[in-house]
Amino acid sequence: MNKVCVIGAGSTRYGKLSEGVVELAVNASREAIKSAGIEARDVQYAFISNVFGVADRQVHLAPVIMSDLGIANVPGLTVESACGSGSIAFREAYANVAAGFYDVVLVVGVEKVTHTGTARSTTLFSYCSDFFYEGGNGVSFPGLFASMARAYMHKYDASEEDLALVAVKNHEHGLLNPKAHIRKRITVGDVLESPPVASPLKLLDCCPFSDGASAVILASEEYAKSHHLEYVEVIGSGRGASPATLQDREDITTIPSTRAAAQQAFKQAKIEPKDVDFAEVHDCFTIAEIVDIEDLGFFPKGKGVEAVRQGITKLGGDLPINPSGGLKSKGHPIGATGVGQVVEVYEQLLGRAGERQVKGAEIALTHNFGATGASCAVHIFRRP
Ligand SMILES: CC(C)(COP(=O)(O)OP(=O)(O)OC[C@H]1O[C@@H](n2cnc3c(N)ncnc32)[C@H](O)[C@@H]1OP(=O)(O)O)[C@@H](O)C(=O)NCCC(=O)NCCS
Repeated sequence: MNKVCVIGAGSTRYGKLSEGVVELAVNASREAIKSAGIEARDVQYAFISNVFGVADRQVHLAPVIMSDLGIANVPGLTVESACGSGSIAFREAYANVAAGFYDVVLVVGVEKVTHTGTARSTTLFSYCSDFFYEGGNGVSFPGLFASMARAYMHKYDASEEDLALVAVKNHEHGLLNPKAHIRKRITVGDVLESPPVASPLKLLDCCPFSDGASAVILASEEYAKSHHLEYVEVIGSGRGASPATLQDREDITTIPSTRAAAQQAFKQAKIEPKDVDFAEVHDCFTIAEIVDIEDLGFFPKGKGVEAVRQGITKLGGDLPINPSGGLKSKGHPIGATGVGQVVEVYEQLLGRAGERQVKGAEIALTHNFGATGASCAVHIFRRP
């Protein structure tokens, strides 16, 4: 297997944006190509991560994006795996470069939904659940994660205030990220007093609907070295899967796909969770971040909440989680999210993260899942 690295990264702002799905993807791709110090014509293949191109009247995205980049001869493929599409597209690109099929691959994640409004977006997103059992019976994602929150609070020592601490932290981080969707300082009181969405989750426990695009360029280490490019190594890659519905899971305070993907990634990287300097994890709702940091092996089951209370997961703490602001504050344009996490890791490990820089970071992890964790990918990166 060839060693694989990330040689460039770029991202649009996340938020309610006026650009269309193609323009967003092209802008992020151009930035990634420029940051890599290569030309568009050096790209040999592309993975496009997208779920709702149809909402902006454009599917079959690869030929359209490649044509706009001036490389219409470059083949590409759209990857759809709900909110986990970005990391799963990244994983496919990783596998292609590791296997030696290509030396330089573009991964661009993009989503454009806010123009449809909250009601329509909620319906569209419910198609990512098992629609027969969940979405079709009126259970949207806030409702599914509310069930997980209730189960967690029943089983472990956790309160609505504890969940709120996750939102307060990620909003603090997002304030330092000029590309974040919601840049607003909030307090625990603000979260507790915000309108209920699906009890116990309130407005400020939820990620927003966002538009945006993020792109990265993967290359074989040999290519990066022979072209004297700056890069970040990919040292572990794992995939996992869980039953599609919550009702088919034995325990809804844990996500089996996260555990499986993390175990594979750590095994390949030959490191342990304690070796990680910071992580970008899938905090679509506050409860998700707490479950994630336990399932990833950073904290024992039921103890993630204590780590949040002690400030361990804040910037400046022992294990900063979501220095970008996470899905909660940076935003969640679902096709872009998993790729955007890699953009953050690339910038952090090369010391380019500005005010939110994790000092001395050498090893970082990304974790991104689809729906309630039915699909998941975990990646581990190292500064060479
Ligand atoms: C939480 C939610 C219901 C809010 O929708 P809404 O009530 O229609 O919100 P609006 O878009 O009208 O925004 C109202 C205000 O709240 C803010 N806001 C919206 N969502 C927010 C969020 N998640 N966090 C913080 N602020 C938010 C908006 O910026 C706006 O502020 P302003 O009035 O100062 O401009 C919606 O964002 C949601 O369902 N989020 C979850 C998305 C999801 O399920 N993703 C998949 C995860 S698996």
